[in-house]
Amino acid sequence: MINTVGVIGLGTMGAGIVEVFAKAGLSVIAVDGSAELAERGKGFLEKSLGRAVSKGKLDEAARDEIVGRVSFGDDLGAMKDADLVIEAVPERLEIKESIFTTLDGIVREDCVLATNTSSLSITEIARATKVPSRVIGMHFFNPAPVQPLVEVIRSVMSDETLVEQVRELAERLGKKPVVVGDRAGFVANALLVSYLARSIRAYESGLASRSDIDAAMAAGVGLPMGPLTLCDLVGLDVIHEVCGVLYNATGDPSVASPSILRQLVTAGRLGRKSGHGFYTYDGVGSGTVVDDAATTAPAKPLEGKVGLVGEGDLVDALGSELSDAGVEVVRVVSADDAASLKGVAVTLAVDAVELDGDCCGGGCCGGDDASHGDVESGLEIGAKPVLRAVRDAIGDAGVIAALGEGSVETASTGDPTIDATIVPVVLHEKQRAGQVLEIGRSVAISDEAVETVRSLAAAAGWTPVVGKDRAGLVVDALLYPHLNDAAKMLDSGYATVEDIETAMKAGCGYPQGLFELLDEAGPDDVHGVLSEMHFETGEQHLVPSPLLTEHILADRPFRN
Ligand code: 3HC
Repeated sequence: MINTVGVIGLGTMGAGIVEVFAKAGLSVIAVDGSAELAERGKGFLEKSLGRAVSKGKLDEAARDEIVGRVSFGDDLGAMKDADLVIEAVPERLEIKESIFTTLDGIVREDCVLATNTSSLSITEIARATKVPSRVIGMHFFNPAPVQPLVEVIRSVMSDETLVEQVRELAERLGKKPVVVGDRAGFVANALLVSYLARSIRAYESGLASRSDIDAAMAAGVGLPMGPLTLCDLVGLDVIHEVCGVLYNATGDPSVASPSILRQLVTAGRLGRKSGHGFYTYDGVGSGTVVDDAATTAPAKPLEGKVGLVGEGDLVDALGSELSDAGVEVVRVVSADDAASLKGVAVTLAVDAVELDGDCCGGGCCGGDDASHGDVESGLEIGAKPVLRAVRDAIGDAGVIAALGEGSVETASTGDPTIDATIVPVVLHEKQRAGQVLEIGRSVAISDEAVETVRSLAAAAGWTPVVGKDRAGLVVDALLYPHLNDAAKMLDSGYATVEDIETAMKAGCGYPQGLFELLDEAGPDDVHGVLSEMHFETGEQHLVPSPLLTEHILADRPFRN
């Protein structure tokens, strides 16, 4: 039975792990490299418990009891009494190996040596020790006291009874263990950090602003925080290191550490812990963002009425939503009424702008070169008489927000005057953090038209997200490759659907697992958008997993 644990390294993760063990009633020997660092670790613990006391979630006596279970110091020799020692030192193989080989001469023979490594090889760390069978991965998630996931990672040399002992310990801590083999990034980081690296690259390439990328995933998908905010929470140095490990293991350029990430790390901008990362914070260790040069100006207030073109339940619902938000709406269902739109600030056209040609322009087709080579897709503004009448009524300068159903990108009408004022938009489902209206921006569309649509979104209470006019816009372009990665991991036999769902929900606070999201979006839609993205960029990681095709052909969801 594991009752006394040692924790080495008392930074953000180490101090969090100390808190988890002490709260569960275990005795903790907490050690860092110097008395100052040990004192800092004690400070982290006291601050975290102090927050719980001030919120009334813990009384002072309980806090003192928890702190009393921990002895802080800088002497590894104190680990002689430990049943299990876990290290949470920086992600460098040589540091971890050196600690474990030192521990070989200190700890008891039956002591388990655990590493909280984010992605380094457990097998390599174990190989450096005297008794490789007692080395196991025990990977916590940030913030350790909050996230329930613990990945228990075995190497081929691990003693299976110890693996089971560590799994039971994780359960005793109130955590959700997932037991897996030793692969770069394990389950959660392999999926999460790949998605983070691509999000950083999307930001770097100007797909969207940093706040729009974050809003796309928080308010657009419902994830607890956007990817750039999350990078700042975890630490850019950690993300950079994990990217390096994933890239070395897979050779996939999409997971290599992006240039901007490397620059920020070199500049010492490590995220919240340094007060600067993708965002600027009001102090070291703070999560409160302050404005800086990259802060986007909020949308200007919408001046004037909004036209609403179309009919059906969706249009009715939009009409009510806009009116409830205090927006004056002029509704038009037939060409005869179009004249009433004269003078409106912007017209939201639902399903009224049609794509001309055989191709969907981003979603429904297979996306092979041959089919795309032939297609001259374009917006057919005159396809619906009502829209031609709308255009006549509002004039060439009047802005039309063309609401599509999915990841539809724009194409040109061939008329520069009209192209400048037709803005493709996608309205996503409402999430806890808001409801996203994605707005496509292209060289054909005027900045003024995009700004007008941002104002419309803000007036309606939606969160505007402006992205380059590419397949998947922002939300699907970030989400679908993430879902594809999950399908590829499942297909590789490394983890089950259940493991992957648990890892992302319990480790990263996802309200839904990746396969739940995949089934909801529909494997065919995900496949279509990925194919279109692959057609646009040629990037190998966008090739849909064969397992997606299998599920489409069998018409079977991933989850039953
Ligand atoms: N330490 C302790 N407790 C914390 C905390 C911290 N650093 N940050 C937040 N909390 C607690 C709060 O006190 C609050 O507790 P309460 O419900 O008892 O009052 C609770 O968490 C919720 O916090 P907030 O209300 O302040 O804010 P949110 O509801 O937005 O939650 C969050 C914050 C838990 C960080 C949530 O946004 C989240 O889950 N984000 C995703 C984090 C994630 O993905 N982590 C995994 C990163 S990958 C990793 O760690 C692996 C590594 O190897 C790289």
